[in-house]
Amino acid sequence: MRPVDDLAAAIRGRERALVDTLTRWVAIASVSTDPERAAEVRSSAEFLRQAALDAGFTVAEVWETAGHPAVFAERFEDADLPTILVYGHHDVQPVDPVAEWEKAPFEALERNGQLLGRGTADDKGHLVMHLEALRGFLQARGRLPINLKLIAEGEEEDGSAHFQELLVEHRDRLQADVGVISDTGMPDENVPALTVGLRGLAYWELRVETASTDLHSGVYGGAVLNPITVLAEMVAKLHDADGRVAVPGFYDDVLELSAQERAEIADVPFDEQAFAAEPDVVLGGERGFTTAERRQVRPTMELCGIWGGYQGKGSKTVIAARAAAKLSSRLVPNQEPDRVTGMVEAYLRHIAPPGVRVEFETISTGRWVLTPSHHPAVSAAAEVLEEVWGAPTRFIREGGSIPPVVSIAEALGVPCVLLGVGLPGDRIHAPNERVVLNQLYRGMQAVGLLWQRYGELGKAGLSAPPEPSAPAPPA
Ligand code: BES
Ligand code: MN
Ligand code: MN
Repeated sequence: MRPVDDLAAAIRGRERALVDTLTRWVAIASVSTDPERAAEVRSSAEFLRQAALDAGFTVAEVWETAGHPAVFAERFEDADLPTILVYGHHDVQPVDPVAEWEKAPFEALERNGQLLGRGTADDKGHLVMHLEALRGFLQARGRLPINLKLIAEGEEEDGSAHFQELLVEHRDRLQADVGVISDTGMPDENVPALTVGLRGLAYWELRVETASTDLHSGVYGGAVLNPITVLAEMVAKLHDADGRVAVPGFYDDVLELSAQERAEIADVPFDEQAFAAEPDVVLGGERGFTTAERRQVRPTMELCGIWGGYQGKGSKTVIAARAAAKLSSRLVPNQEPDRVTGMVEAYLRHIAPPGVRVEFETISTGRWVLTPSHHPAVSAAAEVLEEVWGAPTRFIREGGSIPPVVSIAEALGVPCVLLGVGLPGDRIHAPNERVVLNQLYRGMQAVGLLWQRYGELGKAGLSAPPEPSAPAPPA
């Protein structure tokens, strides 16, 4: 066998183990946003710690935070070898509406080359992909050509509130030459892609109050402001008729796309019809931009929830005292979450009718990401994807957000490679989440080849001159 074939074969031998490990892990309902599930998030961390040791990490620890625990694992080989830090998250999204699942969300179901269950794609599948790739690598070679570290956080789906602190606290042990973040996807099974940009996110709650108590709608109706109407009118003013965000200043810091960037986006295969058809959506958005641009590189304002007043059976003639909404913006280079937050709050307070009490709370923020696309660590990853998938690797920007990437890049000063194998149809965050197993299998092969390649490049080959083309982060 050629030296690479034995590695490929050993990793291929881990495919059933991957499904088995992932199935057992999915059974642990590590929903970080649900306080009732805190014990499960902890058992998930414990599960990962043990699985990391089984896979060949020599050190594995549960790291406490002020919120849910993270897991750190390490396999040290030699001080002269480059050190790679893998990031993923072991928490998952809530499963509601649970009635829409074909199968209990935490009982993984293997079917037609897919594994269905909460966390199979986002993000436990990616972490198991790394564990089993390591195990296969060690079976073939006995040692790694790099030093490998793993950090898996337990609160990514809840805004990563304590991740920055964790990095600072353990910065010495997390030191690395390259970060490999595995929590993203590709446009299609046949289109290998590396993500080089993510949108940021700012998430808020808006509450309006027009009375100190609910009122009889006959006694007061017609003579008082209704908070639900007030709120509806306010949120309706967040966009203009062209679908643009109407908050003054919102676009001030947005870097407009060059014609070349737009051409590159248009060149990546994107099946708009399938994108719309599968979840049966009504397309719409900012005038002047394509669907791909709207979802990948344009900033947004979305209502994520809205409530107020009577919602029970039958009727209740009442005017509520208050109404509220959850809203968020996806942010792009060079928008700063805090600056946008200030603009949105000022605007909402400005358009509120006189006398209405407005409360505005920031729930979480995270900055956008652009990775250095010409870095040798990124180029090597592009090469191995091309080799495994047998098609040229695309560089894409995704619309989702992974705030910890910014922390890793900045607090640790490492270049980050966003290597993920999810697909648009994975239904992450939704009922019937699934992962395409062949994507994970190919991902394992790619990881094995990547460690090999990073080993060949060595520390020197993995340090790059500063990127000329990336926009500088705002001061
Ligand atoms: N893995 C996703 C982010 C993602 C999704 C990247 C699709 C690329 C493609 C991540 O787990 C996630 O859901 N992030 C949240 C962040 C939020 C909870 C702060 C998001 O994007 O909504
Ligand atoms: Mn994720
Ligand atoms: Mn997610």
